This record gives sequence, C-alpha cells and structure tokens, in this order.
Amino acid sequence: MKRFHFPAWIDPLLPVVAGFLGIGLVYYGGLFAYAVHPLTSDVGYRPEQPVPYSHALHVGKLKMDCRYCHNTVEVAGHAAIPPASVCMNCHSAQDAAGQTPTVSIRLDSPKLAPIREAVATGEMLPWRRVNDLPDYAYFNHSVHVNRGVSCVACHGRVDRMEVVEQKATLSMGFCLTCHRNPAPNLRPAEFVTNLAWEPEGGDAASIGAALMLERGIHPNDNCSTCHR
Ligand code: HEC
Ligand code: HEC
Ligand code: HEC
Ligand code: HEC
Ligand code: HEC
Repeated sequence: MKRFHFPAWIDPLLPVVAGFLGIGLVYYGGLFAYAVHPLTSDVGYRPEQPVPYSHALHVGKLKMDCRYCHNTVEVAGHAAIPPASVCMNCHSAQDAAGQTPTVSIRLDSPKLAPIREAVATGEMLPWRRVNDLPDYAYFNHSVHVNRGVSCVACHGRVDRMEVVEQKATLSMGFCLTCHRNPAPNLRPAEFVTNLAWEPEGGDAASIGAALMLERGIHPNDNCSTCHR
C-alpha cells in the first residue's frame, strides 16, 4: 500500500499553519490563565456602599456580635442585612419604639444622612452585594454556622475591614476542599462569630475530628448537596 504524501505545494503553507497553531496556543493559554486568575473569581471585590459603614469600627473596636445585625444567620439560608432602624438603636435621638436609646451617637453626621432618610421613608438602603453565588448553586448559612463553621472560613477577618470585600473564590473547588475534610474548620458553636478564635491546647484538626463525631458530620461531596 502506498503511503500518503502531502503534495509539494503544501510546503510553503506550513509556516502559516504553524502560525495559526501558535496563535491558538497563546489564545487558549490566555483564556485558561484568565479563568483561573483570582480576579476572575471576584476575590477582592469591594463595591462602594451608600453609607461608609465600617466593620472594623463596629465589630473590631466596639466588639458588636455579627448576629446583632445579621440576625438570621443561625436560622435561615440567608444572612439578613439589617434595616436602617437597627442602626438607629445608636445613631438616633429616638429608637424604633419612640424611646430615648441608651446611646445616641453622631446624630448629625452627614455620613449617616442616608440612614435617617431610609428610616423616614421606610425604605431599605441600597446596599450593594459583595458575595454572590450563581443561582444554580445552593448555599445555606444556618447549616454551616450551627455545625461550627465560622464566618471567618468564608469571609475572612471582616472585623478588620473598613469596607467589606470578597475573600474566598467561592468556586466549587473552594466548597469541596472543606466538604471533603471539614475537621480543621470546625470549632465549638459559641466561637463561630469570634473571628480571632484560636484552638487552645491541641490542633484544630483533632478538635474538629472530635466535633465531627459529636455532631455526626461526614465528609460529603454529593453533587445534589449543592445542585438541587
Ligand atoms: C452594626 C451592624 C453589623 C454588624 C455588627 C456586623 N455587620 Fe456585617 N454588614 C452590615 C451591613 C450594614 C452590611 C452591608 C454593607 C456592607 O457591605 O458593608 C454588612 C455586610 C456584611 C458582609 C457582606 C455581605 C455581602 O453582600 O456579601 C459580610 C460578609 C458581613 N457583613 C459579615 C459580618 C461578620 C462576619 C460580622 C461579625 C464578625 C458582621 N458582619 C457584623 C452590618 C453589620
Ligand atoms: C451599638 C451602637 C451602634 C450601632 C447599632 C451602630 N453604630 Fe455606627 N457607630 C457607633 C459608634 C460608637 C460610632 C463611633 C462614633 C465616633 O467615632 O465618635 C459609630 C460610627 C458610625 C459611622 C461614622 C460616622 C462619622 O460621622 O464618622 C457610620 C457611618 C456608622 N456608624 C454607620 C452605622 C450603620 C450603617 C449602622 C447600622 C448598620 C450602625 N452604624 C449601627 C455605634 C453604633
Ligand atoms: C461556608 C461558607 C460561609 C460561612 C461559614 C459564612 N458565610 Fe456568609 N456567605 C457565604 C456565601 C457563599 C455567600 C453568598 C450567598 C449567595 O450568593 O447566595 C454569603 C453571603 C453572606 C451575606 C450576604 C447576604 C446573604 O446571605 O447572601 C452576609 C451578610 C453574610 N454572608 C454574613 C455571614 C456571617 C455573619 C457569617 C458567620 C456568622 C457567615 N456569613 C458565615 C458563605 C459563608
Ligand atoms: C470551611 C468549611 C466549609 C466550606 C468552605 C463550605 N462548607 Fe458547606 N458544609 C460544611 C459542613 C461542616 C457542613 C455540614 C455537613 C454535615 O452535616 O455532614 C456543610 C453542609 C453544606 C450543605 C448541606 C445543607 C443541608 O441541607 O444539609 C450545603 C448545601 C453546603 N454545605 C453548601 C456549601 C457551598 C455551596 C459552599 C461553597 C460556597 C460550601 N458549602 C462551603 C462546611 C463547609
Ligand atoms: C459543596 C457544594 C458543591 C458540590 C458538592 C458540588 N458543586 Fe458544582 N458548583 C458549586 C458551586 C458553588 C459552583 C459555582 C462556582 C462558580 O461560581 O465559579 C458550582 C459549579 C458547577 C458547575 C458549573 C461549571 C463550573 O465549573 O463553574 C458544574 C457543571 C458543576 N458545579 C457540577 C457539579 C458536579 C457534577 C458535582 C458532583 C460531582 C458538583 N458540582 C458538586 C458547588 C458544589
């Protein structure tokens, strides 16, 4: 059987073909680099908010607990963003019930004007979302918080942030890394909102392993857990 040979007139075209292959390689290489780059996954995303509210001040310095404002985080899928009336517990001469609050701070601050307006009109402040999963991925806060997964595992040191930013990639790989081995990220429930907590005596993994037994937590990467 005669072996197939390309005709000789193809030869001058070879550099062109090689050129296209080269361009293709650079194009797909670039696409790949873009897809895995942290910026693509919104890490570091920190939109400007309607009021310059600082977690570093209210949580870091004033030691307020996350649940004072995000009060549904233990009982619901979503962590509620507080209505302006919650801010008025301190930043008003009169609280929601018309009583004089124990503290009245910065009543005339122009930075707080949008809050006073929101309370007067009964509207929600247009806070801009920071962390946002695609709709086809199911997430639930209460499950995590009640099993002893701290806010810090997914949101970082919010208590040090003047402006909240996205800390984790929130990619599927991020979720699965913990789901396959949750132990190092578990802590006693009372420390879930204490972002500075460190395991005392013994390493996080062995404390976590004990908590997994106690709470009946298993490594789990079933697709249907998050894609329902
Ligand atoms: C005094 C009320 C208050 C307290 C206390 C508070 N937050 Fe917030 N938090 C807010 C408000 C208001 C926003 C929306 C504006 C913004 O993003 O800064 C917010 C936004 C956030 C966001 C971003 C939400 C998004 O859109 O993705 C995270 C994450 C967050 N808080 C975590 C925490 C954690 C963790 C704690 C406790 C360590 C905490 N917060 C304590 C009021 C509070
Ligand atoms: C437990 C009381 C308390 C609550 C509730 C509270 N704050 Fe504050 N806030 C403070 C204190 C204390 C200060 C610091 C005042 C100072 O620096 O003199 C402050 C300062 C601020 C400032 C800076 C004001 C300025 O003129 O520099 C902003 C903005 C602010 N808070 C927004 C909010 C928002 C938004 C909420 C609701 C999500 C909120 N605060 C809820 C106590 C509170
Ligand atoms: C296991 C990871 C994880 C933990 C732990 C976690 N969060 Fe979140 N958080 C997320 C994800 C993912 C989103 C985006 C959810 C979405 O888009 O549906 C989010 C969104 C939020 C939001 C915006 C409102 C919402 O529900 O979408 C707030 C506020 C918030 N988290 C606060 C907290 C606080 C406070 C804690 C601790 C008490 C906490 N989170 C613990 C992953 C986590
Ligand atoms: C730091 C650890 C950690 C991270 C990160 C994490 N999870 Fe989880 N998740 C857990 C633990 C622990 C459980 C409880 C497992 C159990 O009870 O066996 C859980 C349970 C769940 C459940 C089960 C809810 C139910 O109904 O039982 C869902 C859904 C879920 N996670 C979604 C996600 C998604 C989506 C992400 C990524 C955005 C994520 N998780 C990131 C630790 C984590
Ligand atoms: C712990 C939660 C979790 C589990 C378990 C999980 N996924 Fe996902 N998955 C996610 C999240 C979160 C995203 C969105 C990622 C993003 O926004 O980049 C996602 C995205 C996807 C996508 C969209 C394409 C992509 O990669 O962005 C596909 C397809 C997918 N998952 C398939 C699966 C299959 C198949 C399984 C089972 C082997 C599975 N997932 C298990 C959380 C999960």
